Amino acid sequence: MNAFSCFLGSKLGLAATVLVAAIGAYLLWTHTGHVLAAAPYLLLLACPLMHLFGHHHGHSHSKETSMAGVAQPDTPGAGGETVLDIFRHHWAIYRKFLVHDYMSNAGAYAELHRFLTENAPWPFAFVDLACGDASGVVPALQGTAIAHYRGIDLAPPALELAKRNLEALPCAVELEEADFVQAMRVGSEPVDIVWLSLSLHHLTTPDKRTLMLEIRGRLPPNGALLIYEPTRRDGEDRATYLDRFEETGRRDWTALSATEFQEAMRHVRTCDLPETASEWQSLGREAGFSRVAEAFKAPSDLFRMFSYQP
Ligand SMILES: C[S@@+](CC[C@H](N)C(=O)[O-])C[C@H]1O[C@@H](n2cnc3c(N)ncnc32)[C@H](O)[C@@H]1O
Repeated sequence: MNAFSCFLGSKLGLAATVLVAAIGAYLLWTHTGHVLAAAPYLLLLACPLMHLFGHHHGHSHSKETSMAGVAQPDTPGAGGETVLDIFRHHWAIYRKFLVHDYMSNAGAYAELHRFLTENAPWPFAFVDLACGDASGVVPALQGTAIAHYRGIDLAPPALELAKRNLEALPCAVELEEADFVQAMRVGSEPVDIVWLSLSLHHLTTPDKRTLMLEIRGRLPPNGALLIYEPTRRDGEDRATYLDRFEETGRRDWTALSATEFQEAMRHVRTCDLPETASEWQSLGREAGFSRVAEAFKAPSDLFRMFSYQP
């Protein structure tokens, strides 16, 4: 029962209802013309009130924004989980995915290394959005012209691990506990390359577009945004993608226990909003990038990497 129904069921609510009805009847009787003239405005006024009392939290206005939001450190996001909950419950499982290369991160990082040595400015400032423990990105950055690494993540334990892993880099390192969307919106530090891996898919389509637009605004002409994200085949809907994801996992991810696999699937089914390959590219063009390319496709065809250049 919602707050409004509770109020109506109380003695005070009953008294208020009788009073409002009596005033209404009096007004209708004595000022019929005025009341009828005001009727459309009263209906309009009723809309926000219905919205407030008639729905529970989370009512959505469009298909694009209806599924999930960004999890904040201490306020629940999609699936009722905070980023810290996700970290606590899923990090050990996520490590297994990395160690066994179930998401083909190794191929993606090899491609990132190639891109950086061939296309990045010399030297370059690198921003890693949702850096996690940075374990995968370090080898990709070694042997490149990186001058500055900035990692942003909401989970303090991930940043602690990242700090240790990043000691292997021969450049200045800065780590920041922040929401990457917010950090890109308010920051003004120079950045040449933005890397975003396995986290952008938690945002709704309009939020992905807005973030890409903000990143585009921060990049110099020879800069780039690179993403590695769950990707639907063109024409494939979310449900079919998730079934394919589950099928692949059941068959190939044998190092996960049944419970770990269930946990991983629950997270993916509640939180993940993968775009199709064409949509990932269109979003970049809509954000103002003129050179957009698919740079790598995981052999499972569940994840792809895209590069966006101004
Ligand atoms: C799946 S891990 C990816 C880590 C790393 N990018 C990689 O590819 O291995 C997701 C990471 O995103 C972080 N995260 C999720 N939402 C975030 C947000 N809105 N702002 C900053 N970090 C976020 C989590 O704390 C977690 O460390």
